[in-house]
Amino acid sequence: MRKTIIWAGNLLVLLVLLCGCAWRMNEEIPEYVLTYAENQPANYPTTQGALKFAELVQERTNHKIRIQVHCDGELGTEQEVVSQMKFGGIDFARISLASISDQIPQLNVLQLPFLYDDADHMWRVLNGVLGEVFLNSFKEADLIGLSWYDAGARSFYSNQEIHTQEDLAGMKIRVQDSDMMQDMISRLGATPVSVPYSDVYVAFHTGKIDAAENNWPAYEARRHYDVAKYFTVDEHTRVPEIQLASGETWRSLSEEYQDIILECARESAEYEKQLWAEREKTARKKAIEKGCVELRMSNAELWKFRETALSIYETYCSDYMDIIERIQREGARGTED
Ligand code: GCU
Repeated sequence: MRKTIIWAGNLLVLLVLLCGCAWRMNEEIPEYVLTYAENQPANYPTTQGALKFAELVQERTNHKIRIQVHCDGELGTEQEVVSQMKFGGIDFARISLASISDQIPQLNVLQLPFLYDDADHMWRVLNGVLGEVFLNSFKEADLIGLSWYDAGARSFYSNQEIHTQEDLAGMKIRVQDSDMMQDMISRLGATPVSVPYSDVYVAFHTGKIDAAENNWPAYEARRHYDVAKYFTVDEHTRVPEIQLASGETWRSLSEEYQDIILECARESAEYEKQLWAEREKTARKKAIEKGCVELRMSNAELWKFRETALSIYETYCSDYMDIIERIQREGARGTED
């Protein structure tokens, strides 16, 4: 009798264990394993944002969607990633807006030089109705705009001092792969050179370029201060980052999953923005400790530079002048508050 009770007890324990395992396995076997491309290193704010996004999606879909984040440009340059997303080869990515604006020209509006007064001005635009309209425009390239990420302001840096627009003349300057950005460099009297972000360090080293432009965190993360120690804070553009989903992938997901993904992307953006604000300060400090020399343009010089850069508004965005004026009014609204 005692033996039978022990056997029955053991059997019960075994059954409970088996059920537990089956339940856990069922919970943890994902329905989808999706890829996410990011070209910055693991500790960078945008990558941390991507990891937060993946974690939230996994949690809220009860582990049915797993997103694997590949950082450091492991899945290719931003241009290569976008091409792969067109057929669902890569499911998600965070890219710089400049990398896609040749395909969706109205996006040039959001990254015009000297468009925003400051970061708050840009965020009022991106978080408002216009931000939503621009997010929708990615559909033209069969992509889904999920959320905006912060990327601060871009400035020039070089292995020679830049104090004036004339200092830029004749330089070979690396810019992002965008017709408008390249044209802006030409109008400043320099030669634009297209080099992927991952190759900028080497391009300085080999003399392929004399200058580049980016924000403090991107400059510091890739140790560009080693090869270009003069950083001139002119803040000529603010080029937001964008989190995207492939249209092909999107259509394969239920509406419920799409809603969860959108919600998580927007939450991750808030997280990225906080990290960004801290990183902007620490990156500048670290770069200076490593030997970077911070330069400033005089107001008169900045004004001249601004006049030249502004000439591209007409060339690239003449169809969107009403939107540009709306954006400018948004800046004035901020000063009234
Ligand atoms: C930004 C952005 C990168 C981009 C880089 C560039 O810093 O975070 O994704 O590649 O600019 O200048 O190409």
